[in-house]
Amino acid sequence: MMHASDASVSQMSHQPIVATKMSGEMDKPLISRRLVDSDGSLAEVPSEAPKVGVLGSGDFARSLVTRLVGSGFSVVVGSRNPKRTAGLFPSAAQVTFQADAVDSPDVIFVAMFREHYSSLCGLSDQLAGKILVDVSNPTEQEHLRQLESNAEYLASLFPTCTVVKAFNVISAWTLQSGPRDGNRQVPICSNQPEAKRVVSEMVQAMGFTPVDMGALASAREVEAMPLRLLPGWKVPGLLALGLFIFFYIYNFVRDVVQPYVREGKSKFYKLPVSVVNTTLPCVAYVLLSLVYLPGVLAAALQLHRGTKYRRFPDWLGHWLQHRKQIGLLSFFCAALHALYSFCLPLGRVNRYEVVNLALKQVLTNKSHLWIEEEVWRMEIYLSLGVLALGMLSLLAVTSLPSIANSLNWREFSFIQSTLGFVALVLSTLHTLTYGWTRAFEDRHYRFYLPPTFTLTLLVPCVVILAKALFLLPCLGGRLARIRRGWEKDAAVKFALPMDHALAQKTSHV
Ligand SMILES: Cc1cc2nc3c(=O)[nH]c(=O)nc-3n(C[C@H](O)[C@H](O)[C@H](O)COP(=O)(O)OP(=O)(O)OC[C@H]3O[C@@H](n4cnc5c(N)ncnc54)[C@H](O)[C@@H]3O)c2cc1C
Ligand SMILES: NC(=O)c1ccc[n+]([C@@H]2O[C@H](COP(=O)([O-])OP(=O)(O)OC[C@H]3O[C@@H](n4cnc5c(N)ncnc54)[C@H](OP(=O)(O)O)[C@@H]3O)[C@@H](O)[C@H]2O)c1
Ligand code: HEM
Repeated sequence: MMHASDASVSQMSHQPIVATKMSGEMDKPLISRRLVDSDGSLAEVPSEAPKVGVLGSGDFARSLVTRLVGSGFSVVVGSRNPKRTAGLFPSAAQVTFQADAVDSPDVIFVAMFREHYSSLCGLSDQLAGKILVDVSNPTEQEHLRQLESNAEYLASLFPTCTVVKAFNVISAWTLQSGPRDGNRQVPICSNQPEAKRVVSEMVQAMGFTPVDMGALASAREVEAMPLRLLPGWKVPGLLALGLFIFFYIYNFVRDVVQPYVREGKSKFYKLPVSVVNTTLPCVAYVLLSLVYLPGVLAAALQLHRGTKYRRFPDWLGHWLQHRKQIGLLSFFCAALHALYSFCLPLGRVNRYEVVNLALKQVLTNKSHLWIEEEVWRMEIYLSLGVLALGMLSLLAVTSLPSIANSLNWREFSFIQSTLGFVALVLSTLHTLTYGWTRAFEDRHYRFYLPPTFTLTLLVPCVVILAKALFLLPCLGGRLARIRRGWEKDAAVKFALPMDHALAQKTSHV
């Protein structure tokens, strides 16, 4: 089966270029100097270079061949029409008919779509015993329709070959531009460990990192990888969008429709900046409270059940798992809110308002406008807003995998749980000092709708109150014991047989 693959590996290890890459000097250019002509084009590779075949002359094949040649392999391309496609490949690669291309190499990349695999059946005898690398990706519909992965289908067509699934997660663009600009990991699976080793070494030689995914049965999972589109972000994204639409409409009605209907004033100019800047902080603030609410619900449930060993309901489990995304969306909205707030004084509206106010003062002969309470209120709420955003930035930075990996569990949990909660408290104080007494003044109720900030305070206040309650020794102590493994029912179960035994003893006496 593996008749010449071992030879190709041993050849590979004698290759100077491959050996350099394998020794870990990944920073060196992938295309060795020795393989690049003075004009930048790819030169002839040494004759002893390990030979690899590529079937297909499309986008992926062209990028793959360029990288293979640059990594020191001798490549022969098999095309249905070599005359037409030869010019598309580096001069170092040999382009020929499919039947000629598969003769000598032991490893052959099938850079074609699944529906064309059967057109290779005529080459079955020549392909016998060789390694076929399946690089294909199904479309989303194909993936749902077909239970058998592309790689398993290829293996069923060529039972005398060893099929290895690899490279499907790497785009033609990444192959061409080099792994430093994109994803480095290449999941690999095959039923033949030796074939997997050969392809893994090729992956490494090309500057990528092989990830062993086990047997060919995993190919379906590997093929599903490039189909994913931000899977953990769908629900949090929809939640943020829903909140944005709700608060935008609410603020539109209060700040634009109400003055238009009641006083005939056109305040539609508020739509692009002012209404957005009243909406974004509300979304940020509510999302932030929704990050810490599931922890509170989990704690309440654990207290109620008297154990931590029972599963949370599915909705709570999913919510707990999506807190990172909800938190990052909250940070995103808060950062936009800060930017909008900094831009407010730049607008024409602000300039006209300042000039008009100055004129009004002159006309009413007022020389010094200074309301001490307003000054203090604004200084405090701005400072609290900046502090809250600073804390959130810290949380966002530590959520980067490279930073998170440099922290131990206690440090990460302190930043995420404790400092995150501090950010929620600071945001609440920022909102309260901004709103001040407005919640109690009739003129701020437009169309009977309360000021927006009052709506946003509900969930954060529940979270803060609940966290404060959990600090009480009667609740906090019990919660701490439950989280260390203590169980209410276990204590009862433990006590019952003892009592029973004691009762039996006394009855005997
Ligand atoms: C900008 C930003 C970035 C964020 N980045 C991240 C991030 O990178 N990673 C991340 O995880 N979160 C992130 N979050 C979300 C949030 O900060 C963390 O989830 C934080 O740990 C929540 O703290 P907590 O005190 O509510 O709950 P936790 O500290 O998670 O939990 C409190 C207690 O609840 C129980 N509990 C919690 N979850 C479970 C569970 N699934 N099963 C059983 N018991 C459970 C445990 O007993 C735990 O001791 C981010 C938030 C923001 C705002
Ligand atoms: N493009 C990417 O970024 C990317 C990324 C990962 C995986 N892939 C996978 O790589 C494979 C090729 O993708 P691609 O983008 O290179 O596609 P493509 O540009 O359409 O190339 C497919 C090639 O298949 C060959 N082929 C052989 N028999 C064929 C037939 N009967 N009918 C039509 N073509 C036939 C053709 O080469 P000849 O005419 O020379 O025979 C053609 O150039 C696919 O399975 C894809 O899922 C692509
Ligand atoms: C640099 C940081 C910040 C600055 C400069 C800032 C500034 C402001 C300003 C100027 C307003 C008044 C907006 C208006 O006139 O409509 C405001 C309101 C508000 N801010 Fe911030 N803020 C910051 C951070 C935050 C953060 C981190 C949050 C919460 C996550 C937040 C939540 C709110 C809320 C809820 C309101 C009330 C919105 C309303 O109902 O009108 N802010 N902030």
